[in-house]
Amino acid sequence: MATTAAAVAATSVVVLDRGNNTTCTINLHGATVVSWRVNNQEQLFVSKLASFDGKKAIRGGIPFVFPQFGPWSFGPQHGFARITRWHLDRAPERLHNGDVEAIFSLMDNEFTRSIWNYQFRITYRLILREKELHFHIGVYNPSKDLSFTFNMLLHTYLKVPDVRRCQITGLQGCHFIDKTREGALYQEGREVVTVNEWTDRIYQHTPQEHVITNVVSGRKMRLHKYNFPDTVIWNPWIDRSREMSDFGDDEFPNMLCVEAGNVSSPVILLPGTCFEASQILQQFKYPYNLVLPKKKAQRKLK
Ligand code: BG6
Repeated sequence: MATTAAAVAATSVVVLDRGNNTTCTINLHGATVVSWRVNNQEQLFVSKLASFDGKKAIRGGIPFVFPQFGPWSFGPQHGFARITRWHLDRAPERLHNGDVEAIFSLMDNEFTRSIWNYQFRITYRLILREKELHFHIGVYNPSKDLSFTFNMLLHTYLKVPDVRRCQITGLQGCHFIDKTREGALYQEGREVVTVNEWTDRIYQHTPQEHVITNVVSGRKMRLHKYNFPDTVIWNPWIDRSREMSDFGDDEFPNMLCVEAGNVSSPVILLPGTCFEASQILQQFKYPYNLVLPKKKAQRKLK
């Protein structure tokens, strides 16, 4: 990789190129992964109306949510990390096995402290493999005496031909907060979750792995996560799509957000300590369906 960190600093995007038309593009605005192509096939959804003006969050790809998930009295919804320009610490570099790595970072600055007055340093390491994208995150609290609490989430927008045909495994038995029903708590009864309406759920204590079926070309995507206890499933459907200026009215069938995070209980980071979490997205193909959907069943808890 000939690109140097200094050369990239002047532009806004960083491209990891593994060869064979397998690439990953990161926009420094929010360190948002805006494209992941495997053999030339795009895996991520980005809205045709997404704004790249460096002011709003990019509508699609994988925005980085920190230090708040959802509305926030101190600042913008989903925090500031997705609307702040990140630093490229290590320009794309080919590893001995052919994979390509790049490292990004975000530190507190005047803007972040005006919203949330804490010192922090986030390191975000991405590795592009043949059919996988690895995300390794470290959050460090350099303060000598102040702890802070935060939410963090990778807001992954998967590109799908028809969201109604996707199944998400690994959620059966998990409790979830249903944001479409005033935050009521339910328990998931289905072996695989499907999306046929406005869906906005925070599933708690989810397992380390989900498989999402019928993503691009009818393939499957495995989402493997470490230290991300929650999984948010979101699709705005018809009415909510119309309310978003940076999302086409007709785009909702082509995206599914499966978001790994720490959102239902915040992480507490003591002075001088570090928090780590990671995610792997892996595109794969199975000749058969993993599980067949069972009848819709869910139990309301309160
Ligand atoms: C999801 C939330 O993670 O993000 C939803 O659960 C929210 O409630 C969605 O609507 C999109 O948020 P935003 O701020 O990018 O429009």
